[in-house]
Amino acid sequence: MNILLFGRSGQVAWELQRSLSLLGSVTVVDRHHEALCGDLTQPEGIANTIRSLKPDVVVNAAAYTAVDTAEQDRESALLVNSESVEVMARETAQLGALLVHYSTDYVFDGSGDHYRKEHEATGPLNVYGQTKLAGEHAIARHNPRHFIFRTSWVYASRGKNFLRTMLKLADEKSSLSIINDQIGAPTSASLIADCTAIAIRDEIQHKSKYGTYHLVASGECSWLEYAKYTFSVARKYHTASKINTVTSISTAEYPTPARRPLNSRLSNRKFQQAFIVTLPDWRCDVARVVSELVS
Ligand SMILES: NC(=O)c1ccc[n+]([C@@H]2O[C@H](COP(=O)([O-])OP(=O)(O)OC[C@H]3O[C@@H](n4cnc5c(N)ncnc54)[C@H](OP(=O)(O)O)[C@@H]3O)[C@@H](O)[C@H]2O)c1
Repeated sequence: MNILLFGRSGQVAWELQRSLSLLGSVTVVDRHHEALCGDLTQPEGIANTIRSLKPDVVVNAAAYTAVDTAEQDRESALLVNSESVEVMARETAQLGALLVHYSTDYVFDGSGDHYRKEHEATGPLNVYGQTKLAGEHAIARHNPRHFIFRTSWVYASRGKNFLRTMLKLADEKSSLSIINDQIGAPTSASLIADCTAIAIRDEIQHKSKYGTYHLVASGECSWLEYAKYTFSVARKYHTASKINTVTSISTAEYPTPARRPLNSRLSNRKFQQAFIVTLPDWRCDVARVVSELVS
């Protein structure tokens, strides 16, 4: 199987290079590639890359992910998260190839306190969410043979993420104020990558399970609970030593350019049932990644 992966150094893209290599030959193209266009601000270049490689599967792990910056930079976010994604959908449809793409809990408005299912009404609160939703719609319009995996609160032992920020701050500050009224599930890039490989393998064998899935770890927490758990694991390794006071604050007390949903709970039941896997509690991988980083 020939797989074309867009993205190299992002959290999920990095882990996919490992997990997808079990399935076949993986060509990794990012925006720094010398011979092939992997810059998602260049939709025509993306089309040419797909046309020249003729892959069986395209996996898009590249995205405009700067949520606050996107508020002032809608054009670029749209180009990367929607227009180039539409091109990927058109080109893969021409080839009869499978397109795998990632989306976000931010396509929802975050009202209520239930676990949202895949078919529920969307209503993004910010530009990033709007552009990711536009990308989802483009895929659904142009290539029915797709996976859209909506995930949330992604972290890894590399890259820019909340877990790494907390570990850094815990060594520098004695007190922190952390939001306690946004609820979601921290999901590791490695879990997303492993599950992606399982789903692709299944689709290649059965060609029937394409569509949108919520791919998140099980359970829920607030950012405050996530931080406290991170510190508790780090302390076992005698790090996070400076921090002694963690104060709960509300979203209203921490204004950001982009609005965030309060309820980011996503039901992962459909994914677990379709691919016969157990998505572990969020604490499992947080503990593993913290221990990797501090031990
Ligand atoms: N991070 C989260 O909390 C989160 C939550 C929900 C959903 N998601 C979704 O999950 C997917 C993976 O996210 P992630 O956390 O792995 O993202 P990430 O770590 O922020 O990485 C984003 C990747 O996209 C690449 N990229 C950005 N602009 C590009 C462009 N114009 N052309 C080509 N590549 C470009 C970056 O390349 P460079 O390294 O060259 O900058 C980087 O490799 C995305 O679809 C994201 O929307 C993420």
